[in-house]
Amino acid sequence: MGMKIIGTGSCLPQTVVTNDDLSKIMDTSDEWISSRTGIRERHLVKEETTTSMSVEAARRAMENAGVTAQEIDLIIVGTLSADHVTPACACEVQAAIGAQDAVAFDINAACSGFMFALNIAHAYLQMGVYKTVLILGAETLSKIMDWNDRSTCVLFGDGAGAVVVCADERDRMLAYDQGSDGVRGSVLACKNRTNNNPLVQTGVEPEYVHMDGQEVYKFAVTAVPASLSKTIKAAGLSVEDIDYFALHQANIRIIQSVAKRLKVSEDKFPISLDHCGNISAASVPILLDEINRKGLLKPGMKIALSGFGGGLTWASAVIEW
Ligand code: COA
Repeated sequence: MGMKIIGTGSCLPQTVVTNDDLSKIMDTSDEWISSRTGIRERHLVKEETTTSMSVEAARRAMENAGVTAQEIDLIIVGTLSADHVTPACACEVQAAIGAQDAVAFDINAACSGFMFALNIAHAYLQMGVYKTVLILGAETLSKIMDWNDRSTCVLFGDGAGAVVVCADERDRMLAYDQGSDGVRGSVLACKNRTNNNPLVQTGVEPEYVHMDGQEVYKFAVTAVPASLSKTIKAAGLSVEDIDYFALHQANIRIIQSVAKRLKVSEDKFPISLDHCGNISAASVPILLDEINRKGLLKPGMKIALSGFGGGLTWASAVIEW
């Protein structure tokens, strides 16, 4: 048994914060941010939460797929910024949409979280364990940013994206690749769970996101093209056969570098980072939803997906639409 994507949905917070807005509260400028990253604005939560955005994205994806909550038998949320330690965001989504027969859990693979969740769903469907799966990437990164660290906080945004996949005799997941490198994990970290139990009492304050931007950049521009090349080859295709490359939206320069290394026109790389910033696990499903709703995806098209980030982690897939 194989897997087929049958619907997409997404939800961004209502409030848009432009680079100019940020320049009023910190020492930065639209010129610095947009020239180095391609980001012009991002959506940040006020009332919204990781769960509320997930629920809205899930409803839109189910409507797009034409499935009811009763048909969903598995919900996986890729997130590093769930609202609580427990219950999981996926369990809260299950309750809110009324998917009472679903099994629900979160996974944390940072910016690769949605891609890892997609691969988990694929394995379950291949084994015949489940039939209809709701997969989300959802983040409220604004709550784990250090708003005094201008080199990091300007890059990120909040939002949620979802896909519904179902079991199908013909597998539309043509190939995938995933990997991790914990040795280099400290270049992008958020160590915000210190133990202050009575035996330890470190008094250490929880940390916000800390990033060595240049090391992360070097990792991305080598790991992503290598993973994509490997996956495209494993699918029995060449780069020319791929209609779109839907990459994690971290930085336009990373995407341009991947396009150059693969010798593919940048036109094949749709972009959402200009208006969303980097939304970690939510980037890839939000981008997929945007290009799906623009009518760009036609049956039979080959799409290469890739996520990469904290852990370090990375994951790519080639799917047929
Ligand atoms: N506004 C204005 N100036 C800023 C700034 C900001 N928001 N943030 C940093 N600066 C300053 C720095 O203080 C530094 O000043 P100095 O030269 O006086 O010391 C200068 O700009 C250059 O900083 P630098 O870190 O060398 O810039 P860079 O060209 O490496 O770009 C990133 C920084 C973060 C944009 C870049 O490294 C990057 O995109 N890395 C990948 C990050 C990423 O995508 N992470 C997520 C992956 S999932």
